[in-house]
Amino acid sequence: MREELLTARLSLRPPVPDDVDAIFAVHSDPATCLHNPSDALSGRAEAVELFKRWDAHWHRYGYGYWVVRRRDADHPLGFCGTKLMELGGMAVLNLFYRFEAASWGHGVASEAVTAVVEWVTERVPDLPVIARVRPANTASQRVATRAGLARAGHLDVPGEDGLDWIYAKNLPT
Ligand SMILES: CC(C)(COP(=O)(O)OP(=O)(O)OC[C@H]1O[C@@H](n2cnc3c(N)ncnc32)[C@H](O)[C@@H]1OP(=O)(O)O)[C@@H](O)C(=O)NCCC(=O)NCCS
Repeated sequence: MREELLTARLSLRPPVPDDVDAIFAVHSDPATCLHNPSDALSGRAEAVELFKRWDAHWHRYGYGYWVVRRRDADHPLGFCGTKLMELGGMAVLNLFYRFEAASWGHGVASEAVTAVVEWVTERVPDLPVIARVRPANTASQRVATRAGLARAGHLDVPGEDGLDWIYAKNLPT
């Protein structure tokens, strides 16, 4: 289905090969990977591989990570979406968001992430949505909360960069 999402200010579209440079730019800035250094990319070839993984997820499941830009501009501000994974033996949609530092502080992440969470809640209602957030990443915690996720401390897990706090929506009862 590879659907485009529109919000008041933003367009979210599935990634295309031309997005590799933006993927590399956003993931090679130490500021954007401050809390998750294991996500940092050190060469463009790694961005090509990341794009291929994102694209394969779209082809397999019909959703994935979107490229976010302002509706009146072509320049990608960042990326946001969900990926199917396991958490504690449970299938979940892992929420991801990362935006270029120049865009921070204007509600872009809240607007994009809220649209993504609404979309997957409607289209993939059987799976919980979770976010794995480092304890010091206050901005990310605010974004997850604004998008409707709530702290689920009982699911906290060690992640690649240390303890991940779990935020969740639509957990099984
Ligand atoms: C986290 C991130 C997505 C936030 O993007 P953003 O567009 O600046 O977010 P918003 O403008 O929508 O702000 C969301 C909230 O965070 C708050 N916030 C933003 N930057 C903050 C900071 N440095 N410290 C504390 N709070 C901050 C805002 O005030 C806002 O709070 P509110 O909901 O109470 O109004 C962005 O900083 C980013 O891409 N960081 C690097 C990647 C990352 O950490 N991703 C998450 C991994 S779990």
